[in-house]
Order: sequence, then structure tokens, then C-alpha cells
Amino acid sequence: MAKKSSHDHPEKMPTWKSDFPIKEEQVTHVGRREFAKFLGLLSGTLALGNGVIVIKALAFPAKPLEGEHFVCNADEVAVGEMFQFEIAGSKVIPYILIHLEENVWRAFEQKCTHLTCAVRYRKDLGKIECPCHHGFFSADTGEVLQGPPPRPLPRLEVVIRDGKVYVREEKQDQTV
Ligand code: FES
Repeated sequence: MAKKSSHDHPEKMPTWKSDFPIKEEQVTHVGRREFAKFLGLLSGTLALGNGVIVIKALAFPAKPLEGEHFVCNADEVAVGEMFQFEIAGSKVIPYILIHLEENVWRAFEQKCTHLTCAVRYRKDLGKIECPCHHGFFSADTGEVLQGPPPRPLPRLEVVIRDGKVYVREEKQDQTV
């Protein structure tokens, strides 16, 4: 009696394969195409995001602030901490509030004066750092201490009243 070869009884195709007959080649191809599309969309979205910031900055140049603006309650920012905020009606410039010491507060624009990266207060160094090109500013005055920034960080006056923090356009020599 002839021996049965495996071709006489090919393995039965699993039900899921016959239900979803997609060739592996197609799967890989579609996957790559979808991935490329995803990357394109992602970079497009990021580029658009940056573009929007630049357009906003051009369309709404910084104006002097009018009046006082509430930032937060004083007890929300511990000594040595930084608080990032925006002023209602102006989404163009984010600011940072720094609780430098007990009863000593500072507020600056968060945009580096070099290429507008977001600066941050480095508690460990006691300075404001721009991480993009290693620029450093004084946390006390906003003066440039190191690196490529050409100008000090613009500063706001901080006013503490009834346990609340307000900022307003700076008048010379009137900081908390
Ligand atoms: S953007 Fe801040 S140092 Fe270049």
C-alpha cells in the first residue's frame, strides 16, 4: 500500500485564515504606508504648532500690561519653587513666577531672549536656565549671566496682597 504523502491531506487552513484572507506582504506594505502617513502627520502637526506660536507672536506683539493680574495664591508656591502662568487675554507670552526667598518673589517672561525657548528656574543653581543653548539668567534681576542670550529677561513687578500674588508692568525699583 502506497504511503500517504502530506500532499494528499494538506493541513486544514485555520478558520480565522479563511475568514480573513490577507496576504502577509499586503499587511507589511499597508503597515509601512500607514506608519509613513502617521510620521508625516506627526511632523506636520509639530510644524503647525511651532508655526502657530510664531504667527501669534507676530500678529500680537507684546504690549505693556495694563493693571494688575492675579496669578495664584501665595501659599501655592513654596520657597524655591517656580510657577508658570499666562495672563488672561494674552496667550502669547507665558511667564514664570519664582518664590526666591521668604517674602521675595520675581516674575519674568518665560521666552528666552535668544531664540525664544522656554526658560526655567533651577533651584539647585539659584539661576534661570535656558536649556536650548545653555543660557543662564539671574533669578533676581533677569540679567544674562552666561550664554548667547543678548538681553535680560523682561521682568514684571510682583505684588502680594491678602495672601494672593498679582503681577503688573514693572516700575523701576519696586519689587517685592
Ligand atoms: S534659545 Fe535660549 S539660549 Fe538659545
